Amino acid sequence: MILLKSSREIEHMRAAGRILGEVKARLKALVRPGASTKDIDEDIEAFIVGKGAAPAFKGYRGYPATVCASINDEVVHGIPSAKRKLKDGDIIGLDLGCIVEGYYGDCAITLPVGPVPERVQELLDVTRESLDKAIVQCRAGSRIGDISYAVQAHCESHGFGVVRAFVGHGIGRALHEEPQVPNFGEAGRGPVLKAGMVLAIEPMVTMGSWEVRVLEDGWTAVTVDGSLAAHFEDTIAITANGPEVLTRTAG
Ligand code: MF3
Ligand code: CO
Repeated sequence: MILLKSSREIEHMRAAGRILGEVKARLKALVRPGASTKDIDEDIEAFIVGKGAAPAFKGYRGYPATVCASINDEVVHGIPSAKRKLKDGDIIGLDLGCIVEGYYGDCAITLPVGPVPERVQELLDVTRESLDKAIVQCRAGSRIGDISYAVQAHCESHGFGVVRAFVGHGIGRALHEEPQVPNFGEAGRGPVLKAGMVLAIEPMVTMGSWEVRVLEDGWTAVTVDGSLAAHFEDTIAITANGPEVLTRTAG
């Protein structure tokens, strides 16, 4: 069942999303050569708790940290570690979540560490653009397949691979609610969008094949072919006036 949120519920999710928007702004300074993914995790946990919110991922199915930090061929769910230090030329995906008054916000961004080759920057740009194209589809009367198709068509037209094994999701009082939001599929198919739905849309896109596998730690998903991967995510409320992105700050 797809749960519709009241304006009071969306207000809590807006508050959670606002905190995550501020976290994204902090990342510009936190993501630099020599920083460990544990350093980044600790800073963000302190920031979220300082805002009176709670980390959303810590303890979720036993996940041990506040953020997921996925470097280069790691697609999603990389576990922060003091031993893993960023270096120039890396790309790092950071998945961020928090809870306010029992309501979740969820977003992700992939950043370059120093300069990266042109095709790698293109991977980041095209993945972010595919999320923007998906958000445009978030109107009452459209279908989940319209979102899926918008992501897949944009990424594949630029020669990138779209990951199948993980999908976006409804979000509210739980991190993962119905419906699933695949990043591949046919326009005009799937559940009809209604005002009051809140979706986390999260394209995961690679420079090569879409196939992924999970490492022995039980969490870190990597590309099977070792190609680089990018991940962007926002939490979006579908309103009578169209999409409202909850996890971005102005500017
Ligand atoms: N954005 C991710 C998701 O929606 C965050 C989950 S990480 C986990 O699945 F550790 F909480 F699983
Ligand atoms: Co998510």
